[in-house]
Amino acid sequence: MIEIHFARPDLANKIADELTGASLLSDARNGLFLAQARRTGKSWFLQKDLTPALEAKGWIVLYVDFWKDVTRDPAKLITDVVETAFEQHLGFVTRAAKRMGIAKIGVPGTASIDLAPSLDFDALTLADALNELHKRSGKKIALLIDEAQHALTSDAGEAAMIALKSARDQMNAAGNEPTLLLVMSGSHQDKLMRLTNSPAAPFWGSRVELLERLGTRYVDWCIERLQNEFSALKTLNREKLYRAFDEFGNRPQFFLNAIKDAIRELGANAGEADWTERVSDRVLAIAARQKQTDRDAFAATYLQLDPLEQAVLWRLLDRGAQFKPYDAQAMTFYKANIGKSTTAATVQRKLEALREKNPPLLWKSQRAEYSPYDQSLQNWYNFEVNAGRWPPRPHDQEKG
Ligand SMILES: Nc1ncnc2c1ncn2[C@@H]1O[C@H](COP(=O)(O)OP(=O)(O)OP(=O)(O)O)[C@@H](O)[C@H]1O
Ligand SMILES: [Mg+2]
Repeated sequence: MIEIHFARPDLANKIADELTGASLLSDARNGLFLAQARRTGKSWFLQKDLTPALEAKGWIVLYVDFWKDVTRDPAKLITDVVETAFEQHLGFVTRAAKRMGIAKIGVPGTASIDLAPSLDFDALTLADALNELHKRSGKKIALLIDEAQHALTSDAGEAAMIALKSARDQMNAAGNEPTLLLVMSGSHQDKLMRLTNSPAAPFWGSRVELLERLGTRYVDWCIERLQNEFSALKTLNREKLYRAFDEFGNRPQFFLNAIKDAIRELGANAGEADWTERVSDRVLAIAARQKQTDRDAFAATYLQLDPLEQAVLWRLLDRGAQFKPYDAQAMTFYKANIGKSTTAATVQRKLEALREKNPPLLWKSQRAEYSPYDQSLQNWYNFEVNAGRWPPRPHDQEKG
């Protein structure tokens, strides 16, 4: 069977060492925040690389995806995996016990708890549940939360994050070594930063880092596999494929699909002397075309907005985390763009309208902080500004 996972044990071990190590300069024990663009392998890394690396150090690893069910309270999603861990690691009969109607037992802090054969997860706080798991298993716990920024869009999510912060502080204050590690990841650096960047944020003081991208080593790994699988692909042009993978934003699926398409399109000429070179060129061309199509799509979306919506979105893209939708400078900016004064109430309606587009263009946290919904919108804006092409004009569109 062909292995489809490109493993990154070095990176995983490095992060695991930082998390568990005692270096004065490592802040990882306060929580590690990892951001990277959509479809670049964050979830796979957490589950297939970091999980085994931490397990090898003897930690119990719990993985929660906050996007799995956005209608559920994030705290409940966490207690669910904690509960499953009790079953897996301690042979606890939890859900089953409840189903069979076994009586509820005491709450933490009471003497009965250590003797109790079962725990009532509905009565436990998040911190207690994590602490019980640690005490009873004698193992340290790493909690990996995927799409963590999602917690910021509801009161329940905010509360879950504050509960986690308090669990971390309680469990890590006791001894020299931390007993609860938190790793949070998300596809949006800006949104993830909202968990860390103000005194009101639950993890104030921590920093968001970028997860290392798959990069050229992943491309080398693909080339080796392709060459073993298809002898006609013996001499793929490495440099061109590196460039193509980069153009695809380090997204494996797009890259592999392009290779598949190139082979199919050029299949009839397989075997000709320069065939693999032409396949490499075609992959690169597909990448460039894809990038242009994406830019055109963003421009078309932007041009469909009404003038004030455009101005509000522009202001957000320009100001980033400093965006204040209603301050005097913002109002002046809108006026300069639409040619007349507007009111805060109108701007607020536009912000809502931008959130309700399909797909949404704007994201709003529970604390009324705004971000572009998708990081790639910001990347597109930065690219166009750097290329001296901002704002987009209708005729740029038609040419494409
Ligand atoms: N290490 C890897 N080796 C091989 N393929 C990978 C690897 N990482 C990711 N992929 C491929 O890329 C796809 C996307 O990966 P993953 O779901 O981990 O990305 P993500 O960054 O979590 O995406 P999203 O932002 O949508 O959550 C996977 O389904 C897989 O096909
Ligand atoms: Mg993911």
